Amino acid sequence: MSVQAVRGEILYFRDQPADPVDPAYAVQTDTIERGAEDAAVVHLADGLLLFDGGQIVDVGPASTLLSQLGPDIPIQSYTHGLILPGFIDSHVHLPQVDVIASHGTQLLDWLERYTFPAEQRFADPAHAAETADFFLRQLIQAGTTTAMVFATIHADAVHAFFEASEALGTRMICGRVMMDAHAPDALRDTAESSYKESRDLIERWHGCGRQLYAVTPRFAITSTPQQLERAGDLLDEFPGVYLQTHLSENLSEVEAVQQLHPHSRDYLDVYDQHRLVRRHSVFAHGLHLSSREHACLHSAGAGIAFCPTSNLFLGSGLLNLGKLDEAGVAYGMGTDVGAGTSFSMLQTLNEAYKVAQLQGQTLSPLKAFYLATLGNARMLGLDNAVGTLEPGTEADFVVLDYHCTDLIRRRIGACRSLEARLFVLMMLGDERAVAATWVNGECVFDRPNASIRRTSTNGTLDNPTRNKS
Ligand code: GUN
Ligand code: ZN
Repeated sequence: MSVQAVRGEILYFRDQPADPVDPAYAVQTDTIERGAEDAAVVHLADGLLLFDGGQIVDVGPASTLLSQLGPDIPIQSYTHGLILPGFIDSHVHLPQVDVIASHGTQLLDWLERYTFPAEQRFADPAHAAETADFFLRQLIQAGTTTAMVFATIHADAVHAFFEASEALGTRMICGRVMMDAHAPDALRDTAESSYKESRDLIERWHGCGRQLYAVTPRFAITSTPQQLERAGDLLDEFPGVYLQTHLSENLSEVEAVQQLHPHSRDYLDVYDQHRLVRRHSVFAHGLHLSSREHACLHSAGAGIAFCPTSNLFLGSGLLNLGKLDEAGVAYGMGTDVGAGTSFSMLQTLNEAYKVAQLQGQTLSPLKAFYLATLGNARMLGLDNAVGTLEPGTEADFVVLDYHCTDLIRRRIGACRSLEARLFVLMMLGDERAVAATWVNGECVFDRPNASIRRTSTNGTLDNPTRNKS
């Protein structure tokens, strides 16, 4: 492998940024470089990212690193762009690309009317393979390089997804959905068949290259206690495997769960009774939780995937981030496509900001971008690999374009700080703001007609516009 370099404005996190925001950032201009060893935020106005194959080997100010580079190292320079770690989506559904933007209902009816029929089509392996490819391209075009993905009950569809991810080189977490109750016959398995098929998939894919497995009981309505027990067995038998499910999203759902599981103290307890609440367990939504449930999530080290576009679209409710912070519950960002209405993490942060506003809270732009990168990586225990640009981690990154639309270009022109620019990107940006996505050291997406200027030079040059090729 040979070393490559990417030059441009660089931002990544080493820790959660202070909230409220460090006032020093509010007056920051492009001439100031940040990058002290202990800083939570690393911001390089003119930075260089060096990677060898799929691994980042160095990152720092271009002025320092360029002089150390040999003449043969190719440098790609992005002007008026911002280089960030690839986004992480902690909750998204593969089969639901075909029902995104379906009108008129709330969760339980939406599942019956739109989602279950779409999932039944995954019995056809050709459809599953084509959709896996399409879905991964949607993620990449949105700048998302790692996702925690619900497939369907069809094991072949999970194989197809992992094969497509392996071919692209992405780090993905995926699981076969387990459902043995309250689902159409064609989507119903048994506690034993779901256990065996999940186990075979874990043995085949978990830790295979960049692929990881998540045990995936859909939610407490569609799994019997017997199935949840077998899900717990899988987690015990395969340490390091993830758990993903849904929790306390919609009030009618919460009521149904209470009726179906009368011996549980509350919704989370249904999962806890079967050993499903632990580190690396990700519960989507968690909108209507009690303080007991918050405390239980905190002590287990489990996380919540905050999916604001979905919560607003389905009318499910507003997640109270302040309460999660008070209880010390880990959380990250998810799109929840197709109840979520966008693959774009920028659009997801836009709606997250508004959900906070509706509750008299705020979400700072730095914290928002932290949640979509390192915050999600930490929740998933992957912060040694992704969600950051620290040396030794994997070379997944996205280049955002400050000039991607006339409006964004104009508005960015009036910004005087990094936070102001981030806020413009998250409020006005979407897939159009993604100029390029790099996975494992390779550029896998270059937006056609992106306004961003990408130039190639060779090493030991101070000026990125010299030696254009
Ligand atoms: N709860 C159970 N299944 C689903 C699903 O597919 N989407 C959402 N948003 N919630 C769920
Ligand atoms: Zn979901």
